Amino acid sequence: MRIIKVKNYDEVSVKTANLILGQVNLKPDAVLGLATGGSPVGAYKKIVEAYNNGEVDFSGVTTINLDEYRGIKRNHEQSYWSFMQENLFKHVNVREDHIFIPNGENLNSEEVCREYDKIIENAGGIDMQLLGIGLDGHIGFNEPADHFEKNTHCVELTESTIEANKRFFESKDEVPRQAYTMGILPIVQAKKVIMIANGKNKADIIKKAFTGPVTPEVPASILQMHPDFTLIADEDALSEI
Ligand code: F6R
Repeated sequence: MRIIKVKNYDEVSVKTANLILGQVNLKPDAVLGLATGGSPVGAYKKIVEAYNNGEVDFSGVTTINLDEYRGIKRNHEQSYWSFMQENLFKHVNVREDHIFIPNGENLNSEEVCREYDKIIENAGGIDMQLLGIGLDGHIGFNEPADHFEKNTHCVELTESTIEANKRFFESKDEVPRQAYTMGILPIVQAKKVIMIANGKNKADIIKKAFTGPVTPEVPASILQMHPDFTLIADEDALSEI
């Protein structure tokens, strides 16, 4: 694993955006695995800036997002669909039929999950997967468990995740309790994986995930085994290692 240590969130965002832009410029039909949450917002801004400067073309790119809340309307302002539209898709020329996010409106978990696995398979897997990390070590919404779940599945969000995500909703009660998430397999099979971590509150979990044992109790720890994994983090997030 490679660690890129930078001073602050802005530098995290610049480095992350540059890796993604490099990927797309090298392979115009790249399959990007994308994340939501606070961590990638700055990188998406930088990517939009680069697009506006004519530095990148997304017309051949396919995007496959990690996750979506179960039982949320696509156009709900906190759906991951809306997040991606607002932060990236509506500002660049990704083709709409090349954008994939689990269908949170469909409550038939079996159907959603099998469809999503098919989508990932048909895309030929992921060239570059972008990740954040949850305070409990989750990647996507692969929450701590006694085994790694390989394929797309429906999860009960942990108390820690509901607590962390309530900042995006009017109240904690409104945070959905379940989500669909890509499984661990396509993440570890991605050719390149990059993770963003910033801020002091990520320092403990970064230490656990990358200096502790590989265990499904800390899902991100599996990335220690990935042949091309880059952690882009600020000094605060790296302060415990
Ligand atoms: C989001 C996702 C989550 C987040 C994680 C960190 O699509 O898959 O794993 O990356 O919860 O969230 P932030 O970046 O808000 O700290």
